[in-house]
Amino acid sequence: MPFSSHLSRRDLLKTGVALSATALPFAQSKEVVAAEDKKLRTAHIGVGGMGGADLAQISSHPRVEVVALCDVDAGRLAEASKKHPSAKTYQDYRQMFAEMAQDFDAVVVSTPDHTHAPAAMTALNHDKPVYCQKPLTHEIYEARQLRLVAEQKQLVTQMGIQVSSSLQYRGTTQYIQEGIIGKVSEVYVWSQKNWGYDGPAFEGKDEVPASLAWDLWLGTAEERPYKKEVYHPGQWRRLIDFGTGTLGDMGVHICDTPFRALALTAPNWVKTTCRKPTGVGHPEQNMCEYEFPGTEFTTDTLRWTWFDGALVPPDVSKFDLPKDYELPGQAALFLGERGSLLLPHVANPVMFVGGQEIPIEMQPLEIKNHYHQWVDACLGENTTISSFSYGGPLTEALLLGVVANRFPTQKLEWDADKLEVTNLPEANQLIRRNYREGFEVNGL
Ligand SMILES: NC(=O)c1ccc[n+]([C@@H]2O[C@H](COP(=O)([O-])OP(=O)(O)OC[C@H]3O[C@@H](n4cnc5c(N)ncnc54)[C@H](O)[C@@H]3O)[C@@H](O)[C@H]2O)c1
Repeated sequence: MPFSSHLSRRDLLKTGVALSATALPFAQSKEVVAAEDKKLRTAHIGVGGMGGADLAQISSHPRVEVVALCDVDAGRLAEASKKHPSAKTYQDYRQMFAEMAQDFDAVVVSTPDHTHAPAAMTALNHDKPVYCQKPLTHEIYEARQLRLVAEQKQLVTQMGIQVSSSLQYRGTTQYIQEGIIGKVSEVYVWSQKNWGYDGPAFEGKDEVPASLAWDLWLGTAEERPYKKEVYHPGQWRRLIDFGTGTLGDMGVHICDTPFRALALTAPNWVKTTCRKPTGVGHPEQNMCEYEFPGTEFTTDTLRWTWFDGALVPPDVSKFDLPKDYELPGQAALFLGERGSLLLPHVANPVMFVGGQEIPIEMQPLEIKNHYHQWVDACLGENTTISSFSYGGPLTEALLLGVVANRFPTQKLEWDADKLEVTNLPEANQLIRRNYREGFEVNGL
C-alpha cells in the first residue's frame, strides 16, 4: 500500500481514487419566505434542555425571528422567553397552531422522543418546514409517515443530527465513498453510554410540580401518575414508552456516517443480545446485529454490529488494528477490502492497514452549520443534508433494533415495504403505537 503516515487528499488522488463533490441527494427545497428582506418566523416546541441549544442556534441566524415558544414546563418556557420577550408563549402546541399558525413560517421540535412525531406531523399538516431533534421518531411507523408527508408536500426538513454536518463526518463519508478502504463488508458501531434501565416498574406517585402540564408532557403515551426524577426532568430517555435507549439515542449520531457513506437502506434482518424485556426500561447493555443489502460501497451484504453500555469497548481483534490500540468510547469502525477505518465520535478518522495506524488528514470542505442550512433552505437558498428523506430511513433501521430488544436472541426478518416483521408477528405490535384519546394526529 502506498499510504504514508499522513494520508491527504492529494495522496488519495495519487492512488487513483476518484474524487467528487459530496452530493446532497436527499434535500428538498421549497421556498417558504421569498423576499430577501423577509425573515423566517420560527415557532419552537420544547425550549429547555436541547431545545434551548436549538433555539440559540436557530435564532443566531440573522434572518430568523422567533415568534412562538412552547413548553409544557412553565419554568423552562419563562427562561426561553427572557431571551425572546416578543415571542408568544404556549404550553400546548396544539393551541399554538390553532391560534397563530398563520403567523409563523417554520417549526423546531425539541421535545422528548415520543412527542417528535405528533408535533412534527402537526407542523407538516400545516405546510410548515420542520427541524426535528433526533431520533426522528419513537416508532417506526411514525418515521415512515413523516418522511412520506414531507416528501409529498416537498417541505424543507432537517433531523437534529448536527454532527452530520461536521468536517469529520462529511469528510469520512467522502473518503469511504471514494474507496479509501475498498468495498466495506462489516461495520462495528458503539457507545459506552447507558441510556437503559433494568429496574422494576415505578410505584406510587408524587405531586405534579405546579409549573408542569403533566398530561401534555405524556401526550400520546398512556396515562400514569407523575413520579419525580423519573420522567421530567429526568430519565425519560431510559424508558420504553418515551425514549429509545442508547441505540436509538446516541446510535443516531454514531451510525449516521456508516449509514450515509455506505448508502444503506432498510436492513434484511436484525437480532439483539440483551436481558429479557421488563416492560419498563431499555436494556442497560445491548448488542444488536444487522444484515443490510449490499450497495455500490459494500460487499454483497453488509454485517453491522452495535454495542452499548458495559459491552464497550467491543472485541475488534478481527479488524487488524495495532496491538493494544485504545478504542474511543463512541465510534464507528469500517472493515474494508484494503484496510479498516475508525471514526471516533466527532474526531478525525484513522485508517489501519496491516496492523499499522495511518492518521488521515482532513481537507477543508465547505460546510454550513446544520441549523443554518435548514434556515437557508427554508429561505430557498440551500438544501439540507439530513432531511426526513435521510433521517427517516436511518431512524427506522435503528428503531427496528430497539424493537428487537423486546425479543432477545431472535432474528427479526424485515419487510420494509410492508413495515412488517415477517417471521415474528408479535413484533409487529411494536411498529406503531396507539395514540391516547384526545392526542390523535392526522397522518399518524
Ligand atoms: N442532537 C443532539 O446532540 C441532542 C442532544 C441532546 C438531546 N437531543 C434530543 O433532544 C430532545 C430533547 O432532549 P433533552 O435532553 O433536551 O430533554 P429534556 O427533557 O431535558 O427537554 C425537553 C424539553 O421539552 C419540553 N417538553 C416536553 N414535552 C413537551 C411537549 N409536549 N410540548 C412542548 N414541550 C415539551 C420539556 O419541558 C423540556 O423543556 C430529545 O429528542 C433528544 O434525543 C439531541
